[in-house]
Amino acid sequence: MKHRCLSCQTLGADCQHDYHAECAIKLFGTEFPPTVQFSTPDIIREAQKMVGKISVSGVQPKLSVAYDRKIFQLIVVEKGGEYILKPQTERFPMLPENENLCMRIASLCGTDVPAHGLIPLADKRFAYLVKRFDRTDEGFKFQQEDFQQLLEIDDKYDGSYERMANIIRKHSCNPASDLFKLYERAILFFVLGNGDAHLKNFSLIRSRSAGYRLSPAYDIVSSRLVLSEEREEMCLSIQGKRNRLSRKDFIRLAQHLGLAEEQCNHISDRMKDFQPEIEGMIKDSFLSEQLKSRFLELFKERMKRMNI
Ligand SMILES: Nc1ncnc2c1ncn2[C@@H]1O[C@H](COP(=O)(O)OP(=O)(O)O)[C@@H](O)[C@H]1O
Ligand SMILES: [Mg+2]
Ligand SMILES: [Zn+2]
Repeated sequence: MKHRCLSCQTLGADCQHDYHAECAIKLFGTEFPPTVQFSTPDIIREAQKMVGKISVSGVQPKLSVAYDRKIFQLIVVEKGGEYILKPQTERFPMLPENENLCMRIASLCGTDVPAHGLIPLADKRFAYLVKRFDRTDEGFKFQQEDFQQLLEIDDKYDGSYERMANIIRKHSCNPASDLFKLYERAILFFVLGNGDAHLKNFSLIRSRSAGYRLSPAYDIVSSRLVLSEEREEMCLSIQGKRNRLSRKDFIRLAQHLGLAEEQCNHISDRMKDFQPEIEGMIKDSFLSEQLKSRFLELFKERMKRMNI
Protein backbone atom coordinates (compact mmCIF):
# COMPACT_ATOMS: atom_id res chain seq x y z
CA MET A 1 0.00 0.00 0.00
CA LYS A 2 1.20 3.49 -0.86
CA HIS A 3 0.86 6.27 1.69
CA ARG A 4 1.57 9.92 2.31
CA CYS A 5 5.17 11.08 2.01
CA LEU A 6 6.55 12.64 5.19
CA SER A 7 8.21 15.40 3.21
CA CYS A 8 5.89 16.52 0.39
CA GLN A 9 2.74 15.11 2.06
CA THR A 10 1.33 13.73 -1.19
CA LEU A 11 0.36 10.09 -1.72
CA GLY A 12 2.64 7.53 -3.27
CA ALA A 13 5.44 7.08 -0.77
CA ASP A 14 6.91 3.63 -0.45
CA CYS A 15 5.19 2.17 2.59
CA GLN A 16 8.36 0.77 4.04
CA HIS A 17 10.25 4.04 3.92
CA ASP A 18 7.69 6.81 4.49
CA TYR A 19 9.25 8.97 1.76
CA HIS A 20 9.12 9.14 -2.03
CA ALA A 21 12.55 8.08 -3.26
CA GLU A 22 13.03 11.50 -4.92
CA CYS A 23 11.98 13.36 -1.75
CA ALA A 24 14.41 11.25 0.31
CA ILE A 25 17.21 11.96 -2.18
CA LYS A 26 16.53 15.69 -1.94
CA LEU A 27 16.73 15.74 1.85
CA PHE A 28 19.14 12.88 2.60
CA GLY A 29 21.01 12.01 -0.57
CA THR A 30 19.77 8.39 -0.24
CA GLU A 31 16.59 6.80 -1.63
CA PHE A 32 15.21 6.18 1.85
CA PRO A 33 15.34 8.16 5.09
CA PRO A 34 17.69 7.31 7.96
CA THR A 35 16.35 5.79 11.16
CA VAL A 36 16.46 7.59 14.48
CA GLN A 37 17.31 5.76 17.68
CA PHE A 38 16.40 8.52 20.11
CA SER A 39 12.99 9.70 21.31
CA THR A 40 11.24 13.03 21.96
CA PRO A 41 12.25 13.22 25.68
CA ASP A 42 15.86 12.31 24.71
CA ILE A 43 15.96 15.33 22.40
CA ILE A 44 14.59 17.69 24.99
CA ARG A 45 17.18 16.44 27.50
CA GLU A 46 20.05 16.59 24.97
CA ALA A 47 18.95 20.02 23.76
CA GLN A 48 19.34 21.43 27.26
CA LYS A 49 22.93 20.15 27.35
CA MET A 50 23.65 21.65 23.94
CA VAL A 51 22.54 25.19 24.76
CA GLY A 52 25.46 27.47 23.94
CA LYS A 53 27.44 24.64 22.30
CA ILE A 54 25.73 24.45 18.94
CA SER A 55 25.64 27.34 16.51
CA VAL A 56 21.87 27.41 16.15
CA SER A 57 19.99 29.17 18.89
CA GLY A 58 16.26 29.93 19.06
CA VAL A 59 13.59 29.37 21.66
CA GLN A 60 12.35 25.84 20.98
CA PRO A 61 14.42 22.78 21.95
CA LYS A 62 16.41 21.57 18.97
CA LEU A 63 19.41 19.45 18.08
CA SER A 64 22.09 19.66 15.49
CA VAL A 65 22.26 16.29 13.73
CA ALA A 66 24.25 14.58 11.00
CA TYR A 67 23.43 11.59 8.83
CA ASP A 68 25.82 8.71 9.44
CA ARG A 69 25.49 7.05 6.04
CA LYS A 70 27.39 3.93 7.16
CA ILE A 71 24.71 2.97 9.65
CA PHE A 72 21.81 4.89 8.03
CA GLN A 73 21.09 6.74 11.23
CA LEU A 74 20.78 10.33 12.33
CA ILE A 75 23.29 11.11 15.04
CA VAL A 76 23.52 14.06 17.42
CA VAL A 77 26.59 16.23 16.87
CA GLU A 78 27.97 19.37 18.48
CA LYS A 79 29.89 20.48 15.42
CA GLY A 80 29.40 20.03 11.69
CA GLY A 81 25.66 19.31 11.82
CA GLU A 82 23.96 18.92 8.45
CA TYR A 83 20.44 19.29 9.80
CA ILE A 84 18.42 20.89 12.57
CA LEU A 85 15.93 18.61 14.34
CA LYS A 86 12.96 20.13 16.16
CA PRO A 87 10.80 17.77 18.27
CA GLN A 88 7.22 18.04 19.57
CA THR A 89 6.79 20.50 22.41
CA GLU A 90 4.25 20.68 25.21
CA ARG A 91 3.28 24.28 24.59
CA PHE A 92 2.42 24.10 20.88
CA PRO A 93 0.54 20.99 19.78
CA MET A 94 1.79 19.43 16.52
CA LEU A 95 4.50 22.02 15.92
CA PRO A 96 6.59 19.76 13.59
CA GLU A 97 3.50 18.96 11.46
CA ASN A 98 2.62 22.67 11.42
CA GLU A 99 6.12 23.76 10.36
CA ASN A 100 6.41 21.10 7.66
CA LEU A 101 3.05 22.17 6.19
CA CYS A 102 3.94 25.88 6.25
CA MET A 103 7.28 25.17 4.58
CA ARG A 104 5.51 23.15 1.85
CA ILE A 105 3.13 26.01 1.20
CA ALA A 106 6.02 28.48 1.12
CA SER A 107 7.83 26.27 -1.35
CA LEU A 108 4.72 26.01 -3.57
CA CYS A 109 4.47 29.82 -3.59
CA GLY A 110 8.04 30.07 -4.85
CA THR A 111 9.73 31.05 -1.58
CA ASP A 112 13.27 29.80 -1.30
CA VAL A 113 13.24 27.18 1.50
CA PRO A 114 15.77 24.52 2.57
CA ALA A 115 14.93 20.82 2.11
CA HIS A 116 12.77 19.63 4.99
CA GLY A 117 10.56 16.77 6.17
CA LEU A 118 9.08 14.95 9.13
CA ILE A 119 10.94 12.08 10.69
CA PRO A 120 9.54 9.52 13.16
CA LEU A 121 11.59 9.22 16.34
CA ALA A 122 12.03 6.07 18.43
CA ASP A 123 8.80 6.90 20.32
CA LYS A 124 6.98 7.09 16.94
CA ARG A 125 6.26 10.79 17.34
CA PHE A 126 7.29 13.11 14.51
CA ALA A 127 10.07 15.65 14.66
CA TYR A 128 10.70 18.30 12.01
CA LEU A 129 14.01 18.04 10.19
CA VAL A 130 15.53 20.79 8.05
CA LYS A 131 18.74 20.82 6.07
CA ARG A 132 21.12 23.60 7.06
CA PHE A 133 21.59 26.24 4.38
CA ASP A 134 24.53 27.92 6.09
CA ARG A 135 27.05 25.20 5.20
CA THR A 136 28.10 23.14 2.23
CA ASP A 137 28.31 19.34 2.18
CA GLU A 138 32.07 19.76 2.62
CA GLY A 139 31.49 21.60 5.89
CA PHE A 140 32.25 25.13 4.66
CA LYS A 141 30.22 27.60 6.75
CA PHE A 142 28.69 30.73 5.25
CA GLN A 143 28.53 33.83 7.36
CA GLN A 144 24.98 34.52 8.51
CA GLU A 145 23.65 37.55 10.39
CA ASP A 146 20.09 37.84 11.62
CA PHE A 147 18.21 41.12 11.44
CA GLN A 148 18.33 41.65 15.20
CA GLN A 149 22.14 41.67 14.97
CA LEU A 150 22.07 43.75 11.80
CA LEU A 151 19.76 46.35 13.30
CA GLU A 152 21.52 46.23 16.69
CA ILE A 153 18.20 46.09 18.51
CA ASP A 154 17.83 44.52 21.98
CA ASP A 155 14.30 43.26 21.44
CA LYS A 156 13.68 40.89 18.53
CA TYR A 157 10.05 42.08 18.39
CA ASP A 158 10.97 45.73 18.17
CA GLY A 159 11.23 46.00 14.39
CA SER A 160 9.41 46.63 11.17
CA TYR A 161 9.45 45.45 7.58
CA GLU A 162 10.52 48.98 6.58
CA ARG A 163 13.61 48.81 8.82
CA MET A 164 14.51 45.38 7.48
CA ALA A 165 14.18 46.87 3.99
CA ASN A 166 16.72 49.57 4.91
CA ILE A 167 19.21 46.89 5.90
CA ILE A 168 18.62 45.08 2.61
CA ARG A 169 19.19 48.30 0.66
CA LYS A 170 22.43 48.83 2.56
CA HIS A 171 23.95 45.35 2.59
CA SER A 172 22.39 43.09 -0.05
CA CYS A 173 24.26 42.63 -3.29
CA ASN A 174 20.88 42.31 -5.06
CA PRO A 175 18.57 44.65 -3.16
CA ALA A 176 15.81 44.74 -5.80
CA SER A 177 15.38 40.97 -5.72
CA ASP A 178 15.65 40.75 -1.90
CA LEU A 179 13.13 43.55 -1.32
CA PHE A 180 10.69 41.70 -3.52
CA LYS A 181 11.34 38.50 -1.56
CA LEU A 182 10.78 40.33 1.72
CA TYR A 183 7.46 41.59 0.43
CA GLU A 184 6.42 38.12 -0.74
CA ARG A 185 7.25 36.77 2.72
CA ALA A 186 5.23 39.51 4.44
CA ILE A 187 2.13 38.45 2.46
CA LEU A 188 2.78 34.74 2.85
CA PHE A 189 3.36 35.01 6.62
CA PHE A 190 0.19 37.07 7.01
CA VAL A 191 -2.04 34.59 5.17
CA LEU A 192 -0.50 31.66 7.08
CA GLY A 193 -0.93 33.31 10.48
CA ASN A 194 2.83 33.20 11.11
CA GLY A 195 2.65 35.72 13.94
CA ASP A 196 6.10 34.99 15.37
CA ALA A 197 8.25 36.07 12.40
CA HIS A 198 10.52 38.30 14.51
CA LEU A 199 13.91 39.81 13.65
CA LYS A 200 15.81 36.58 14.39
CA ASN A 201 13.68 34.72 11.85
CA PHE A 202 15.15 36.74 8.97
CA SER A 203 18.85 36.67 8.04
CA LEU A 204 21.32 37.80 5.48
CA ILE A 205 23.78 35.16 4.35
CA ARG A 206 27.06 35.57 2.54
CA SER A 207 27.71 33.23 -0.35
CA ARG A 208 31.17 32.11 -1.36
CA SER A 209 31.26 34.08 -4.60
CA ALA A 210 28.95 37.06 -4.08
CA GLY A 211 28.18 39.28 -1.10
CA TYR A 212 25.20 39.20 1.28
CA ARG A 213 21.72 38.06 0.21
CA LEU A 214 18.48 37.42 2.08
CA SER A 215 18.77 33.86 3.36
CA PRO A 216 16.27 31.11 2.55
CA ALA A 217 13.14 31.30 4.72
CA TYR A 218 13.00 29.32 7.99
CA ASP A 219 10.88 28.89 11.13
CA ILE A 220 7.59 29.39 9.26
CA VAL A 221 4.83 28.27 11.60
CA SER A 222 1.16 29.16 11.84
CA SER A 223 1.43 30.35 15.43
CA ARG A 224 -2.09 31.80 15.27
CA LEU A 225 -3.41 28.28 14.85
CA VAL A 226 -2.23 27.17 18.26
CA LEU A 227 -2.10 30.52 20.06
CA SER A 228 -5.52 32.03 19.48
CA GLU A 229 -4.76 34.48 22.29
CA GLU A 230 -1.74 35.81 20.33
CA ARG A 231 -1.99 39.59 20.54
CA GLU A 232 -0.61 40.64 17.21
CA GLU A 233 -1.24 39.39 13.69
CA MET A 234 2.31 40.30 12.64
CA CYS A 235 4.97 40.76 15.31
CA LEU A 236 7.00 43.17 13.12
CA SER A 237 5.07 46.20 12.01
CA ILE A 238 3.96 47.07 8.48
CA GLN A 239 3.34 50.78 7.97
CA GLY A 240 3.23 51.16 11.76
CA LYS A 241 0.59 48.42 12.21
CA ARG A 242 0.75 44.93 13.70
CA ASN A 243 -2.99 44.32 13.77
CA ARG A 244 -6.10 44.68 11.64
CA LEU A 245 -3.89 44.64 8.58
CA SER A 246 -5.54 44.79 5.19
CA ARG A 247 -4.55 44.93 1.53
CA LYS A 248 -4.17 48.71 1.79
CA ASP A 249 -1.31 48.38 4.29
CA PHE A 250 0.51 45.90 2.08
CA ILE A 251 0.12 48.17 -0.95
CA ARG A 252 1.65 51.03 1.05
CA LEU A 253 4.47 48.74 2.11
CA ALA A 254 5.10 47.83 -1.52
CA GLN A 255 5.28 51.51 -2.43
CA HIS A 256 7.69 52.12 0.44
CA LEU A 257 9.88 49.26 -0.82
CA GLY A 258 9.84 50.79 -4.30
CA LEU A 259 8.07 47.84 -5.89
CA ALA A 260 6.06 48.29 -9.07
CA GLU A 261 2.30 47.83 -8.91
CA GLU A 262 2.49 44.97 -11.43
CA GLN A 263 4.90 43.12 -9.14
CA CYS A 264 2.42 43.32 -6.26
CA ASN A 265 -0.53 42.33 -8.43
CA HIS A 266 1.52 39.44 -9.69
CA ILE A 267 1.94 38.12 -6.12
CA SER A 268 -1.79 38.43 -5.39
CA ASP A 269 -2.73 36.76 -8.69
CA ARG A 270 -0.35 33.92 -7.99
CA MET A 271 -1.70 33.44 -4.45
CA LYS A 272 -5.21 33.31 -5.89
CA ASP A 273 -4.17 30.65 -8.41
CA PHE A 274 -2.56 28.64 -5.63
CA GLN A 275 -5.46 28.96 -3.18
CA PRO A 276 -7.15 25.62 -4.06
CA GLU A 277 -3.81 23.81 -3.96
CA ILE A 278 -2.90 25.38 -0.60
CA GLU A 279 -6.26 24.36 0.83
CA GLY A 280 -5.63 20.84 -0.49
CA MET A 281 -2.23 20.81 1.20
CA ILE A 282 -3.78 21.80 4.52
CA LYS A 283 -6.35 19.00 4.18
CA ASP A 284 -3.64 16.49 3.23
CA SER A 285 -1.27 17.54 6.01
CA PHE A 286 -0.37 15.58 9.13
CA LEU A 287 -2.24 17.99 11.42
CA SER A 288 -5.23 16.75 13.43
CA GLU A 289 -8.68 17.23 11.85
CA GLN A 290 -9.40 19.99 14.33
CA LEU A 291 -6.23 21.92 13.50
CA LYS A 292 -6.82 21.41 9.77
CA SER A 293 -10.25 23.01 9.92
CA ARG A 294 -8.95 25.87 12.08
CA PHE A 295 -6.10 26.44 9.61
CA LEU A 296 -8.50 26.47 6.63
CA GLU A 297 -10.72 29.00 8.36
CA LEU A 298 -7.78 31.23 9.26
CA PHE A 299 -6.25 31.04 5.77
CA LYS A 300 -9.54 31.86 4.02
CA GLU A 301 -10.20 34.80 6.35
CA ARG A 302 -6.70 36.23 5.75
CA MET A 303 -6.98 35.80 1.97
CA LYS A 304 -10.28 37.64 2.06
CA ARG A 305 -8.74 40.49 4.03
CA MET A 306 -6.02 40.75 1.39
CA ASN A 307 -8.74 40.90 -1.25
CA ILE A 308 -7.16 37.90 -2.88
N1 LIG B 1 17.84 25.51 7.76
C1 LIG B 1 18.65 26.30 8.47
N2 LIG B 1 19.94 26.45 8.14
C2 LIG B 1 20.78 27.24 8.86
N3 LIG B 1 20.40 27.92 9.96
C3 LIG B 1 19.12 27.81 10.36
C4 LIG B 1 18.18 27.00 9.64
N4 LIG B 1 16.97 27.07 10.28
C5 LIG B 1 17.17 27.88 11.33
N5 LIG B 1 18.45 28.33 11.40
C6 LIG B 1 19.07 29.19 12.42
O1 LIG B 1 18.77 28.63 13.69
C7 LIG B 1 18.02 29.52 14.51
C8 LIG B 1 16.94 28.75 15.24
O2 LIG B 1 16.09 28.06 14.35
P1 LIG B 1 14.52 28.31 14.35
O3 LIG B 1 13.94 27.40 13.32
O4 LIG B 1 14.24 29.76 14.16
O5 LIG B 1 14.10 27.82 15.80
P2 LIG B 1 13.09 28.40 16.91
O6 LIG B 1 11.76 27.85 16.56
O7 LIG B 1 13.60 27.90 18.20
O8 LIG B 1 13.16 29.89 16.82
C9 LIG B 1 17.46 30.56 13.53
O9 LIG B 1 17.26 31.79 14.15
C10 LIG B 1 18.51 30.59 12.43
O10 LIG B 1 19.56 31.47 12.78
MG1 LIG C 1 13.18 31.17 15.26
ZN1 LIG D 1 7.35 13.13 -1.35
